Amino acid sequence: MIGWNGLLVEYAPWFDLDDVHDVVTLQEGNTPLIHADRLSERLEADVWLKCEGLNPSGSFKDRGMTMAITKANGATTVICGSTGNTSAAAAAYAAKAGLDCVVLVPQGKVALGKLAQSMVYGAKVLQIQGNFDQALNLARELTQHLPITIVNSINPDRIEGQKTGAFEIVDVLGKAPDILAIPVGNAGNITAYWRGFTQYHFAGRATTLPKMWGFQAAGAAPIVLGYPVENPETIATAIRIGNPASWVPALEVIHESLGDIRAVTDEEIIDAYQYLARNESVFCEPASAASVAGILKFGVPQGSTVVCVLTGNGLKDPDTAVSTSESPTVVEATIEALLAKLS
Ligand code: F0G
Repeated sequence: MIGWNGLLVEYAPWFDLDDVHDVVTLQEGNTPLIHADRLSERLEADVWLKCEGLNPSGSFKDRGMTMAITKANGATTVICGSTGNTSAAAAAYAAKAGLDCVVLVPQGKVALGKLAQSMVYGAKVLQIQGNFDQALNLARELTQHLPITIVNSINPDRIEGQKTGAFEIVDVLGKAPDILAIPVGNAGNITAYWRGFTQYHFAGRATTLPKMWGFQAAGAAPIVLGYPVENPETIATAIRIGNPASWVPALEVIHESLGDIRAVTDEEIIDAYQYLARNESVFCEPASAASVAGILKFGVPQGSTVVCVLTGNGLKDPDTAVSTSESPTVVEATIEALLAKLS
């Protein structure tokens, strides 16, 4: 085999693959870890961006989905509740495996690109008249009534696949960062990264462990508040979640890593989102920018090595991109008109 063969092949020794016959992969993983030059200067630290939007369906969900779909032995249909990225990844990997896919998404609260993905990959898309938390509960309940396999992060195979994000960071840096900054929604990914860092650490691949810094949107910050949020609201629709499924594991992660989970406002998220595009040339989706909004808001120790996980691609949410940017100007097609505009 030549080149990159996807996570299950490249990191095979780190998984239990005994019952696996055919690996379902779109060659996910191996995403760029870009040095953030201006952010590093601004924060007097060494800041890196893990660009998960470069995965095949444009988000980190592909890491978990290659495992979940590969291990969905015998299933003919998979289901998930989603704010948009899990559904895009599930639809893509189900199509690859020849499985049917049902996705439940909150009506009107899924970024356009994500909705388009699930539709184009051929999933049955059901828009719930409710939020993500209700969609996830209904997806779980449906598995009691129908022969379908759930591929949300409550499926342990998802977390197993997603731990590889941490492996890749250590493989590139040659060490664990001092701080891992990551957006938190359903709290599966922070749990997965911690598993990856600890497994590498105990195997001697990294001498230290990072502090895990999770960031929730202020309007959807149940872990920060300490109680579920019935009507979560944020421009970062990917993390518009009021009652995270991996709440308890996430608390364990911040306890064990001496980390924290804090809130950033929508304004801080959009500032970071624009800053990343304009200064680091990375166009991520709003939820992803919560990681950078967090380190800008709270600061980092001078000289520390920090990795921000940018979980999804900016192209997924064209509406937010357009509505938060200056509108293009219409100009008459003459040289005079252009000169008048530009001089
Ligand atoms: N960033 C993006 C772009 C996401 O899509 C999600 C979650 C998160 C961060 C948070 O990760 O849930 O593991 O804490 N999206 C899920 C979905 C909920 O349905 O696509 P988490």
